[in-house]
Amino acid sequence: MIVAGELLLERPGDADRPVELASGYVRIEGEVITEVARCPPPASADLGGPGCLVAPGLVDTHVHLPQFSLIGAHGLPLLEWLEEIVFPAEAQWADAAFAARAAREAAGQLLAHGSTAVCAYSTIHHEATAAAIEQLAAAGLRGVVGMTMSDRAAPDELVDDPARLLDQTADLLDRFPPGERVAAAITPRFAVSCSAELLEGAGRLAAQTPGAAVQTHLSETLDECRAVAAAFGGRGYTQVYADAGLLTPRTLLGHGVWLDPQEQQLIAQAGAVVAHCPTANAFLRAGDMRRDELVASGLRLSLGSDVGAGYERSMVRVARAMIQTASRLGDRYPTPAQAWAQITHAGADAAGLADAGRLAVGAPADLIVAKPTIDWQRGRVDPLARLLFAWDDRWLRTTLCRGAVVYAAA
Ligand code: GUN
Ligand code: ZN
Repeated sequence: MIVAGELLLERPGDADRPVELASGYVRIEGEVITEVARCPPPASADLGGPGCLVAPGLVDTHVHLPQFSLIGAHGLPLLEWLEEIVFPAEAQWADAAFAARAAREAAGQLLAHGSTAVCAYSTIHHEATAAAIEQLAAAGLRGVVGMTMSDRAAPDELVDDPARLLDQTADLLDRFPPGERVAAAITPRFAVSCSAELLEGAGRLAAQTPGAAVQTHLSETLDECRAVAAAFGGRGYTQVYADAGLLTPRTLLGHGVWLDPQEQQLIAQAGAVVAHCPTANAFLRAGDMRRDELVASGLRLSLGSDVGAGYERSMVRVARAMIQTASRLGDRYPTPAQAWAQITHAGADAAGLADAGRLAVGAPADLIVAKPTIDWQRGRVDPLARLLFAWDDRWLRTTLCRGAVVYAAA
């Protein structure tokens, strides 16, 4: 199959402009990209054509599968929003058949917005999580899904015994091991709803399972930080995770809005990643993450929609929100090229999904074809900026996963 247009390609070694657009085509044989050619776009192609954007499938490194059904519950702070809106929705996943349907629906929405790789949270339910992994894999997606573990400070039906939760996560890691197209992840929800015993068990499981992704939330709101300090004898929030062995190069820490410089250093030294969620931070009024400060500390960043606190399913829109938040806060903000990199290869690398997010020979053919209805290639404005800021989800025509069409616009 030949997919032609303006290709969004990685520019290794250029931090300021880590992606570029080049006319050409991508050849797909079976599930894999076998050729990336820079040339005038061929007149006849199986997909795309002149004026089309051909980009890698987008990468969403923090998303909650059971929360697609509750996007939009505005006006509550995090801990109340969890109690009133999120926990009742997640309790419904006790029914694995319900969960399977909801996960299939979420996968459809992700693909319809161009995301082909995700780091996702399920719920506390073991079989529902297995079903969600199977649904995402069947839909074509790449990534990880974690059973969201809690053993306190949540409704009875959403807490369980730590040993049982860890056994169930270990079972999921056996069934869907690291390296699978969709693998299980070790996912303590956050220190507010996890005991030290559960966090330490999760840390041991991470140490015993090379390559396993670890996901949790960290320092999203001040109330949450105070709750963690109260529960852990005044220890710093990041220190709690460090002490439990949860800061690893495969750890994705959602939010990180209120990290102090010492915490930033701890995360940077461990090689862990902060998954920045700018739309969710705005929605829950959590605070603005100082991206420039975190970048300067040397820690690694990725980007997440955080559906359902995040109200945008499109990672292009989340990337735009990242620029808007950073530029409101100061003079160091990402360029459109950096934003595109963040939702493609840089996001994939940060999340440990190195075969995702790039149009490269040998990579799985996970890509999107968009046909912008604006004249984006001419004029004085950087086409990457035009695409990013004028982005319209209706432009997305086709999403491919492993060479198969998994979404086609009507
Ligand atoms: N902290 C703990 N759980 C959650 C969640 O589901 N969403 C967000 N935004 N923050 C959390
Ligand atoms: Zn989250």
